[in-house]
Amino acid sequence: MPITIRPATIDDILAMQNANLHNLPENYMLKYYMYHVLSWPEASFVATTTNEVDDIMDQLVEEEEIDDKLSLPKEPKLDPSYIAHSGEKLVGYVLAKMNDDPDSQDTEPNGHITSLSVMRTYRRMGIAEKLMRQALFALCEVHKAKYVSLHVRQSNRAALHLYRDTLAFEVLSVESSYYQDGEDAYAMEKRLALDQLLPSKFQNAQEEDDLESDLLEDIIKQGVKDISV
Ligand SMILES: CC(C)(COP(=O)(O)OP(=O)(O)OC[C@H]1O[C@@H](n2cnc3c(N)ncnc32)[C@H](O)[C@@H]1OP(=O)(O)O)[C@@H](O)C(=O)NCCC(=O)NCCS
Repeated sequence: MPITIRPATIDDILAMQNANLHNLPENYMLKYYMYHVLSWPEASFVATTTNEVDDIMDQLVEEEEIDDKLSLPKEPKLDPSYIAHSGEKLVGYVLAKMNDDPDSQDTEPNGHITSLSVMRTYRRMGIAEKLMRQALFALCEVHKAKYVSLHVRQSNRAALHLYRDTLAFEVLSVESSYYQDGEDAYAMEKRLALDQLLPSKFQNAQEEDDLESDLLEDIIKQGVKDISV
């Protein structure tokens, strides 16, 4: 089951919203996804697969054949997690932004993780960790974010483990009744340092001899003029 992680585009936002509705009680209007993806197009990522798209296409062809035989009207029931015309099914996303609150007291540029979720069948495979690492890297590299913040429910063991233990976020404070149902939130933060966020530093990164990504890393570390090719 190959999984692709790539930047989110405007074509993904319906499937992202659908995944969010499936996985979390904190939901957003479509225009809020659009705002993220159009304002910070490098910051949000999706995880997709194509396996089940093949399955559903086969199923549709079969249904069409049966419909033809029975002369029934054709009504393909496409799952909204399928991304229109791309042959992909969305299995996870991270929605991220820069903090653009004009009243904020922050003096340093900083990012925010608005939402993260992975569809149930695809959990515990490292997908959320990879989505988060991509978003943190992009916020730091492209938008020069010095730190990133997020909120998480106190009862959300899976997300807490991911943020605190895997990604080394710190708990800053407890925000009382942060959520609509009255649950408290941990306000968490992580300082960002580009050299620590490079893909080669990922815990499970494979040590492949990849000239292109080696060059990119050198450019990020040293700047263009110091690189000798
Ligand atoms: C939280 C969530 C995004 C994790 O996604 P995931 O793809 O399963 O996470 P990963 O496989 O990348 O796991 C990352 C780490 O968290 C741990 N983890 C994942 N699920 C866990 C669980 N249910 N209980 C304890 N630890 C868990 C993994 O073991 C891994 O730890 P490791 O680095 O020590 O090996 C997913 O469970 C989800 O979508 N939940 C519903 C939505 C949600 O809560 N979003 C977060 C809102 S703040």
